[in-house]
Amino acid sequence: MNSMEQGLAEQLTARVLDLVSADTTEMADAVLEVDAAFYTDESQWRAECEFMARVPAVAAPTAMLREPNQYVARTVNNNRRILVTRDEDGRAHVFLNACRHRGAVIVADGEGCQSRFSCPYHNWTYASNGELKGIPFQQGFEGMDKSTHGLLELPSEEKYGFIWYTLDPAAGIDVDEWFGDFATELAQWNYADFEYITHRHYEVPANWKNALEAFTEFYHFQFVHADSIVGQGTISNVTGFDAFGYHSRMLSALVSIRELKDNPQPFFGSQHLGVIYNVFTNLIIANSPIGLEFLHFMPGAAPDKGMLFYLGMANTRIEDNATRQGYESLFENMQKVVSEDLEVITACTNGLQNGLPGIVIGRNEPGTQHFIKSIQAASQ
Ligand code: FES
Ligand SMILES: [Fe+2]
Repeated sequence: MNSMEQGLAEQLTARVLDLVSADTTEMADAVLEVDAAFYTDESQWRAECEFMARVPAVAAPTAMLREPNQYVARTVNNNRRILVTRDEDGRAHVFLNACRHRGAVIVADGEGCQSRFSCPYHNWTYASNGELKGIPFQQGFEGMDKSTHGLLELPSEEKYGFIWYTLDPAAGIDVDEWFGDFATELAQWNYADFEYITHRHYEVPANWKNALEAFTEFYHFQFVHADSIVGQGTISNVTGFDAFGYHSRMLSALVSIRELKDNPQPFFGSQHLGVIYNVFTNLIIANSPIGLEFLHFMPGAAPDKGMLFYLGMANTRIEDNATRQGYESLFENMQKVVSEDLEVITACTNGLQNGLPGIVIGRNEPGTQHFIKSIQAASQ
């Protein structure tokens, strides 16, 4: 089983158990006031998009394309299209999903396994390593160097169980420099050995930050998720918070933690905690005792349009169908929770467009405060 390192898990569990016993939460120093323009202003939004194009973003988890010739095609920030592949030698690549002939999108969004990608327009064919392999009526392109007309590759690095890339090819990529101390935090889980179960793509009629912020606090759980497994399994409004530069870790208390209160007993890893990461800029990884939910929030074509790429993984390799089906139905049920969030998120964007001058983030929402302050600093 792949999990949080035991010593750290014990220390964090004790910290959260103290909060539960004292009926309180860790808190930020002060209330944070935020102008509505932070969510509605086009120049703010553009600055965020430019920043995000220059720093490592997640293209796909390693577990989603483990085998040679597996691929994932996705719509990402600002409706850009990418194609993530593993070539025949096992190396991961991230390409612009655009044909070098006239620019057509080559592969429809989705996942699969194939060694060749043929453009639907004039059938130019590319290999999984991006090389241009075939041009119908080759004489028409005499004088063009085929070797420089492969798929346009973006900088990428595969590490800590994910394939990272930058949308701006000129930005280069250095994942370890970007993560700093946070790399150790990610590495301990061994995410490369998780089992990929399912994914969904959502169009979200909301600002991407409004959307992500719903996954940085546990204050809303008892009100929004009272009828679902997440709300019933979590103690609302208890948060342990730690910053790692712009990145952060938020701890929620699962109701089972109460059993440890008067009766300390051995436990494994973070089985009594929800461990939520904001992998800055726009990724949330929510670890539960059985796996993770991966929520990649992206800006769409305007400040009030966003997207969510949701993915569910098990924290153990799965050999049998019954276990896989159990996970599939679990993640299917989790879509109800996601819809509960998307509904309130959309309402927030609508409210902010209504002429509200600003909003306020409580001391009991330290993860949300940290995310907002990090965006403000990064988009200066
Ligand atoms: S646009 Fe792809 S082959 Fe013409
Ligand atoms: Fe929620």
